Amino acid sequence: MKVLVFSAKPYDRQFLSAASEAQGGVEFHYLEVPLRADTRHLVSGYDAVCAFVNDCIDALVLQALAEAGIRLIAMRCAGYNNIDLKEAARLGITIMRVPAYSPHAVAEHAVALMLALNRKIHRAYNRVREGNFLLNGLLGFDMYQRTVGIVGTGRIGEALSRIMLGFGCRVIAHDVYQNPACLEMGVEYVDLDTLLAQSDIISLHCPLTPETRYLVNAQSVTKMKRGVMIINTGRGALIDTQAVIDALKSGQIGYLGLDVYEQEDGLFFEDLSCEVIQDDMFERLMTFHNVIITGHQGFFTHEALENIAHTTVGNIRCYFGGTPQCENVVRLPS
Ligand code: NAI
Repeated sequence: MKVLVFSAKPYDRQFLSAASEAQGGVEFHYLEVPLRADTRHLVSGYDAVCAFVNDCIDALVLQALAEAGIRLIAMRCAGYNNIDLKEAARLGITIMRVPAYSPHAVAEHAVALMLALNRKIHRAYNRVREGNFLLNGLLGFDMYQRTVGIVGTGRIGEALSRIMLGFGCRVIAHDVYQNPACLEMGVEYVDLDTLLAQSDIISLHCPLTPETRYLVNAQSVTKMKRGVMIINTGRGALIDTQAVIDALKSGQIGYLGLDVYEQEDGLFFEDLSCEVIQDDMFERLMTFHNVIITGHQGFFTHEALENIAHTTVGNIRCYFGGTPQCENVVRLPS
């Protein structure tokens, strides 16, 4: 099967090629450009495409794919909020994904952001390199016995709960379903307002849906503890960035750790170090000493990339092997 891989970075080639060699049956061809309206015509002659989080798979792109005879999009990620699922279903295009590859990778990255913000590692690193060993301004707090609020206790939220309980934190959570493993380990489920009011640290691990879009907004930040820490490794639009900037300016939000950003498409995964970044909201965020942003690297561990590649090849083989109804097919929400 010939599969065209969009948004391909060197590490994608490395891990996907190794997986296809090990499992056989899939021939990957790689393109650095993303899949979107102006690259949609590149798909002819392929049996399937493989896409990633910031590819723009809207109705126009899907129609071009269908015309070229493509019936499978193999996403090499968990999320699929960048796909027009209704249009894909109408056109008979199957979407497959990698629902779980390493929840630990993302959970551990959330903890890295928490600790760096709390103990001001980013500032200490620069100071020490310049021979400044003053501690003024670097005061942190014990995580022990603090309350951590986790929104979304699926695979990643569960892994994070386990880590935070290990720190001796009280872990409260909000989800539309209660995860039995979380209940068993001592996580307390509360409604969203209670979570906002009681948490010292709030970490977002739910998918981006119409219900969760702008879950952190001008109104919800007023319900939080003054000086709260917010961590978002979920999806950028879970947060209304302008509202968060206002709350950082007033001190209502005391710390912000982001691995995702609502306008990350066109910024993240690119080297823009010789260009002037035009996104003023992003640049304003970068001026705060109590904000740390990483460029969507939560998933980026050796183990996760190996699992992603292995499952992606498995998904493609499963589809073309005549069993497309495998568990990794994305279904239209009812
Ligand atoms: P999951 O599907 O295992 O868990 C998501 C949880 O969110 C479920 O328990 C679900 O019931 C809950 N949820 C759904 N709607 C909700 C709502 N309105 N309020 C509260 N909870 C709600 O997903 P997983 O694997 O834990 O991933 C979570 C999210 O993390 C993904 O959707 C994706 O957006 C993001 N992600 C980020 C990565 C990164 O590199 N930064 C990598 C992988 C995932």
